[in-house]
Amino acid sequence: MPTSKPAMTPGQRALAEAMMRGDHYVGKDARRISTDRYVDPQRHAEEMRHLFRRFPTALTTSALIGKDQMVRHDLTGLDLLVTRDGDGQVHVVGNSCAHRATRLVDDDDVHTSRKIICPYHAWTYRANGELAALPRPDTFPGLCKEDHHLVRYPAAEIGGLIWFIGDPEADANFDEVAMVGPDLDAIGLGAMRHFARNTHEIAADWKMVVDAFCEGYHVKRLHAGSIGEYFADGVSVADRMGPHQRFIVGRTEHAKPVDLDDWNAVREVMTFTYQIFPNTVIVVSPDYVNVLIIHPDGVGKCRAENLMLVPGDADAVAVQPRWEKSWQLLDQHTFGGEDFRAAALCQRGVEAGLRKEMLLGTLETGVAVFHDELDARLAAQAGS
Ligand code: FES
Ligand SMILES: [Fe+2]
Repeated sequence: MPTSKPAMTPGQRALAEAMMRGDHYVGKDARRISTDRYVDPQRHAEEMRHLFRRFPTALTTSALIGKDQMVRHDLTGLDLLVTRDGDGQVHVVGNSCAHRATRLVDDDDVHTSRKIICPYHAWTYRANGELAALPRPDTFPGLCKEDHHLVRYPAAEIGGLIWFIGDPEADANFDEVAMVGPDLDAIGLGAMRHFARNTHEIAADWKMVVDAFCEGYHVKRLHAGSIGEYFADGVSVADRMGPHQRFIVGRTEHAKPVDLDDWNAVREVMTFTYQIFPNTVIVVSPDYVNVLIIHPDGVGKCRAENLMLVPGDADAVAVQPRWEKSWQLLDQHTFGGEDFRAAALCQRGVEAGLRKEMLLGTLETGVAVFHDELDARLAAQAGS
């Protein structure tokens, strides 16, 4: 079980040491990538089929639902219920009754209930999707309850997040996600508590939004009116964990020597950021964490859910106003008003069709790394 102040992983420590040495990561060369990847309907269909319905993606934070709680999730294009049973086990099931397909939960609230009860004729399911009971079973001659469970998807809880695979028939293989588990445990995600969440509808391809979190080139420019003052210009280090990327973005005092055994001190000068392939971004601020999950929503559109986690052991009353301020700053201003707006403007520019390629400088190598991984994954899947 993660504690509130676990030690850094060896990988986190090595990257922090690189930052302290001034061994700042930049790519060697500028790169170009095609722009049709953001607008081509065929490409979108391939991503949905070969990526989002085949590999694990994050749905939400562990902190959002406790034992015997559930929440609807409809951002992936599937209508889902994320549940946690009385033993603490998470499940992801289809939000559609096995009787006449009625939607079971129709709001975004977190519900506390041991059972999922259909509002129409009250068929009742366990948290794991098993049909537990139905009224007047005598009126369904020959019905086998075992054949009338909810659709069940492979699910796992790793590093303080709940993951699923969008194909009920897929193997429950979460090995790639497990690569980032120790890092997220070291940050203490699983021990944090939910503070707020908000979903942004963005007129940009999902990759445009991920791109914005794979480079620090824009931080002092785009964020000049919000968080730019807290960061140094173009000071970052990065490495890879399988298909994922781990960054540290240097804050203003990044050159200050810090005790790497003191997470609080480290987070004052270095902002760890993760791009968990393909569509999850984690930003580790000094005393809270933002989890961004960016869901494709058709060609040239996406929905990004921002979830803020705060320390589970803090005096909530004392720090509530500060967290409120941070939530507003990040959710509305920095992400909503700057990163997501820039992504939408970039999308509009690409849709104008004047440019077949875009250019990535050496401070934007993380963007190229993300697209190279994606291209390779799609090519491999298409050929399989
Ligand atoms: S549709 Fe769900 S119980 Fe009838
Ligand atoms: Fe940004």
